[in-house]
Amino acid sequence: MVERTAGRTEDEAGVTRRRFTLGILVASLIGAAGSVLALFKVLSPEKKGGGYVTTIRPGDRLVYAKGANMGVPILASEMKTGNAVLVYPEGKSSNPANLVQLIRLRETDFKLPTNVGLTDRGLVAYSAICTHLGCTVSWVENQQSPAASYTECFCHNSVFDPARGAKVMGGPAPIPLAQIGVKVTNDGALVFTSDFTGPIGPQV
Ligand code: FES
Repeated sequence: MVERTAGRTEDEAGVTRRRFTLGILVASLIGAAGSVLALFKVLSPEKKGGGYVTTIRPGDRLVYAKGANMGVPILASEMKTGNAVLVYPEGKSSNPANLVQLIRLRETDFKLPTNVGLTDRGLVAYSAICTHLGCTVSWVENQQSPAASYTECFCHNSVFDPARGAKVMGGPAPIPLAQIGVKVTNDGALVFTSDFTGPIGPQV
């Protein structure tokens, strides 16, 4: 009787040890998985892009980002050649990565590497977040010669050519502003038609 009781006690002690060892093993595996995930996060392009992650989706309507018409859908007829305006996808203005500069040039003004298939009637759109340190870009309009207008970031004077895929013409910005597709709908409003063609936000 005494021996059986002692045997049960030894068995229970063995089970406790096995559970303890299993617990340590599971905890170690969870810790290792966490380390791998952390490493992946550090190396991911999303991190390299300064953490700017857009939520724009094809079909989102373009609305004014500033001024008295803030939040109102923009009509193609309101954009004259040489004009530019800051826009957001409708209902998604809380994410600064969604800020876009919509520009109207003549269709014949576009040169490579502009993706003309992502433009409509001279309307072209680029990320409005400077690829240097993330300031919002501005529009420098040349009323005499709209094709000579350009985008500039006044934080450190990076200049981008809107007729040539927003390539960098000067300043410290390392890469162009990414283009995003737009098209005019039947009611004259505008919608996005694609994702950005490249990374957005600071790339340094
Ligand atoms: S943040 Fe735009 S030039 Fe520096």
